[in-house]
Amino acid sequence: MSISIIGAGNVGMALGSAFISRGESIVFGVPDPEKYRESVSALGDGASVVSTVQAIAASDVVILAVPYAALPAIAQSVPDWQGKILIDATNPLASGLSGLVLGTTTSGAEELAKLARGARVVKAFNTTGAENMADTRYPGGAPMMPVCGDDAQARQRVMALATLLGFDSVDLGPLVAARYLEPFAMTWIHLALKQGYGRKFAFGMLRRG
Ligand SMILES: NC(=O)c1ccc[n+]([C@@H]2O[C@H](COP(=O)([O-])OP(=O)(O)OC[C@H]3O[C@@H](n4cnc5c(N)ncnc54)[C@H](OP(=O)(O)O)[C@@H]3O)[C@@H](O)[C@H]2O)c1
Repeated sequence: MSISIIGAGNVGMALGSAFISRGESIVFGVPDPEKYRESVSALGDGASVVSTVQAIAASDVVILAVPYAALPAIAQSVPDWQGKILIDATNPLASGLSGLVLGTTTSGAEELAKLARGARVVKAFNTTGAENMADTRYPGGAPMMPVCGDDAQARQRVMALATLLGFDSVDLGPLVAARYLEPFAMTWIHLALKQGYGRKFAFGMLRRG
C-alpha cells in the first residue's frame, strides 16, 4: 500500500525519500506534476508524481506537506474522504515567520478537520525541520515526534510511520493538542532561524524509568 504526499517541496521530499529508503511506495500529488517529474524519479522506482486529486485517491494515508493556505481547497476537493488518514504536517505561519495566524482556541489541524469531511485527521511531522525528517540520526538519541488525532487507530498508525523513520513517537491524544504542537513548531523555527541555532538540532524526550 502506498502513502500519498501532497506537496513535493522541503517536507514532501524529505518524508518521501525517508519512506522510500525504508521500502514504502510514495505517490506525490502536486498542481503541476511535470515540474517534479525529474526530482521524483530520482528517488527511485517506489516514487511517482501525479495530480493532487489522483494522489489523494491513490492511498489510504495522505500527508499534507503544502503551505497552510492551500489546505481549505485540498480538504474540500474531496466530497467524502471515506476514513482516509489525513496527516497534517503544515503550520499556519504568518508572513515572514512572524508567528501563527491562529491558535490557543483552535488550530490549523482542527480547522482542517472541519473541512475534510470523513477524514481521520492526525497532526504530525510539523514540529521539526525537514532535514530531521530526511535523517533522524542524532548522537544523543532519537528526535521526538509528537502525534495527535481524535481517532486512536489512525494515531497509532501515524506513530508507527514516525517510528519507522527513526523518530521517538509521542502520543499527545486527541486533535485538540494540535493547539500546542503548532506553537511548538514555532519554538523550533524561532531557535533555528532567529536565535541562530541553525537547522541541525531536534527536540527529544528524556524519561526516567
Ligand atoms: N520546511 C520545513 O522545515 C517544515 C517543517 C515542518 C513543517 N513545515 C510545514 O510544511 C508545509 C510545507 O513546507 P515546505 O517547506 O515543504 O514548503 P515548500 O518547500 O514551499 O513546498 C510546498 C509544496 O506544496 C506544493 N503545493 C502548493 N500548493 C499546492 C496545492 N494547492 N496542492 C498541492 N500541492 C501544492 C508546492 O508545489 P509548487 O512548487 O508547484 O508550488 C510544493 O511542492 C508548510 O505548511 C510548512 O509550514 C515545514
